Parts: sequence; C-alpha cells; structure tokens
Amino acid sequence: MAVIKVVVVDDEPGIRSGVTRILRDFTVTYPFMDEDFSFEIIEASTGEEGIEILERDNPEIMLLDNKLPGIQGIEVLDYIRRSGHDTMVAMITSYASIDIAVRATSDGATDFIPKPFTPQELKASVENITKQMYLRNITNKLKREGVKVRYQFLSVLSHELKAPLYAIEGYLQSMLGKESGEMVDDYVTQIERSMQRIKGMRSLIMDLLDFSKTRLEKREDKIERVDLKKIAEEAIVTVQPYAIQRDITFSLECKCESTVMADPADMEIIFNNLLSNAVKFNRDKGEVTIEIDGCSKLFTVRVSDTGIGMAEEELDEIFQEFYRIKGDETKEIKGSGLGLSIVKKVTELYGIDIKVESKPGEGSCFTLLFPREKGRELPD
Ligand SMILES: Nc1ncnc2c1ncn2[C@@H]1O[C@H](COP(=O)(O)OP(=O)(O)OP(=O)(O)O)[C@@H](O)[C@H]1O
Ligand SMILES: [Mg+2]
Repeated sequence: MAVIKVVVVDDEPGIRSGVTRILRDFTVTYPFMDEDFSFEIIEASTGEEGIEILERDNPEIMLLDNKLPGIQGIEVLDYIRRSGHDTMVAMITSYASIDIAVRATSDGATDFIPKPFTPQELKASVENITKQMYLRNITNKLKREGVKVRYQFLSVLSHELKAPLYAIEGYLQSMLGKESGEMVDDYVTQIERSMQRIKGMRSLIMDLLDFSKTRLEKREDKIERVDLKKIAEEAIVTVQPYAIQRDITFSLECKCESTVMADPADMEIIFNNLLSNAVKFNRDKGEVTIEIDGCSKLFTVRVSDTGIGMAEEELDEIFQEFYRIKGDETKEIKGSGLGLSIVKKVTELYGIDIKVESKPGEGSCFTLLFPREKGRELPD
C-alpha cells in the first residue's frame, strides 16, 4: 500500500477536518495498478502555510480553496507551476465562482470540487487525481527508461479514456432529455464538467503521443545479432494465455537462417503486436501461422490468421495512431489502436517493408520484408 500525501488548504476548520475524516480511511484500488493507495492528510489554513508545506513535505495532491485570507488559491497554483512542483491540484470552490475554477484548470489545476461537497464527490475527485497521477508516473517512467509500450500501460490508457467518455455521454444525455430545464443556462454545470473531462483526455493523449514520438529511435548501442525465430517463439509464449482461453493454436515454420542486426526489443514490439492482433481478431478454435522464409537478398516473415479479416478500404488506415475498425465483430475487442502504428514506426527505422492482405470472414496476413544486411547477402 502506497501512502499519498494530501495537503488541504482552506481557512474553514470545518472543511479541513471534514476532508481529513472522509479521506482517513479511504483507499483507491484499480485493476491494473500494482498497489493500492491510501492518504495522509496535512492541514493548512492559509495559502502561505500551504506553500510552506509544499516546500517541506512535497505532497502529491493539494486540495486548494480559492478564497483565502492572505494570498489567494489562484496565486498558490501559480507558485506551484512556476516552482516546478508536480503536485496535482484540485480547486475547492463554491458554485458561484465556478468560472474561477474553470480558469484554474487552464492554469494547471487537475480538477475542481464544488463547495459544499458530499463525501462521494470528494472521494471521486481524489480517486480521479490519483489515477491521473499513476498514469503520469508510468508515462514519465517509460519516457525516462525508454522502455517499450507495455500491455499494462495500454490497458490502463484505454480504460482511462473510456471513463470520461461515459461521463460526457451522461451529461449530453441529460441535456438531450432536458432534465434540468429548457435553457442553456440550466446546463452550465454539465457543460463545464464535460469540458473539464475533455481537457483531461486531451492531456493524456498528448502525453502519450509525445511519448511515442520521443521513444522511437534506433539505439545503436542496443543493436545486436537477433534470431527472429527465437523472438517469434517468445512472442507466442506472451500471447499464449489469451490464445488458450479461445482454443487458438500456433504454428511456426522457419525455412531459412533468420538472424538480423537489430535491437531485440524492437523486434519484440513487431512480433508481440502482430501476434496479439492475430489472436484478438481470430475466431474461436482459429489458427495463427508464422512463416519465416528467405532468399539471397531478402527474407520474409508472414503472420497469418483465420480471423474476422478486414475490408480492402481499411487496409491503408490501420497503421494510423488510434485507428480501430468499428463493427459488430470488433466492438467487444479491447485495444487502443496504437499497436500497428508503433509497428509501422519500428519497421521504418529498419527499412522493413510491411504489407497486409485480408479477406473479411477468412483472415488476414501481414508480410514483413527484411533486407539482408550488406555484405551478408547469400549467394543466389
Ligand atoms: N489480424 C487482424 N485481423 C483483423 N483486424 C485486424 C488485425 N490486426 C489489426 N486489425 C484491425 O486494425 C486495427 C488497428 O490495430 P492495432 O493493433 O493498431 O490496434 P488494436 O489491436 O485495436 O489496439 P492495441 O494494439 O493498441 O492494443 C484493429 O483495431 C483492428 O480493427
Ligand atoms: Mg493491436
């Protein structure tokens, strides 16, 4: 269990003790997180005191009232951003000053909590911030280490983008049903909250795009002789748990020498993604075939499946970021639509040509054409 420090900055003692009481026994758990989070609350009655605590304890979260006796909440927020702290801030504000809160979110606040709030509202906000923090930490860690995209990260991401979409859908439905009245003014709160959620999604997507851009470069110091047959075998082991559940079998046929000079992690990305798709978009009891074949100047890797297939006009689109084919057959299948865009970038780094053929209802075949290295071309 990890403990997150939360500083509550509010001049009303009742609010401070209320927050402490509500969050004292609160924990956030999440299917994809490695650990649970609980909260340690530190109270501050002025903005100045809040800044002092910020400098001393470096809390992860700040719940910040805007109307304070000395410096105002907005100024504290400004201080946090200028001083480079990555503390996440939720503004506590009365409904009357919701415009301030909205402005605060464009100045870097993650969330805002309307006053008076119920324990559920406070918990929902703290839970939301905690999850965003967790995602931000993973993104930063991956950026730092240059580690490749992991399934876990993609699962968290797709899950995390879905939640705000449902929320916005809910708000729109209530407007469509005119649940709060006839006038646009009756829906200001719903509109503000929807915008808030959209902002969160945008920053998540920007983080991720930024991450996928900076990450993809060929690391010359990591280049070594890699046997693609071995990589394929390892990829089979990785996706096997999903395949077993649906009775999908693999066959691997290697007809030629299959070594290349590459960063093994890059080759894993290619095989893991193609095999994961070949399983995900297969039918129950289907097959996945991997063939490695070669001639003097080139050799090919072919990953084919007996799955749902794709229409001709989709084949050019599937390599784009976040592109997923929509249809009855795919709507229950999870994914972020990033896998093939990453595969494409990796293949470009190595001058590998990638082609796809497919027939709806019959299956798909992805072919990779690897150039043989200069000087290692085999005789005809
Ligand atoms: N073998 C396949 N058979 C049928 N459709 C496929 C296959 N591979 C990819 N697709 C289609 O192309 C889309 C994009 O694939 P991609 O791997 O980029 O995303 P994803 O698998 O949906 O999500 P992610 O890989 O990010 O988890 C898929 O959503 C699917 O519609
Ligand atoms: Mg995929």
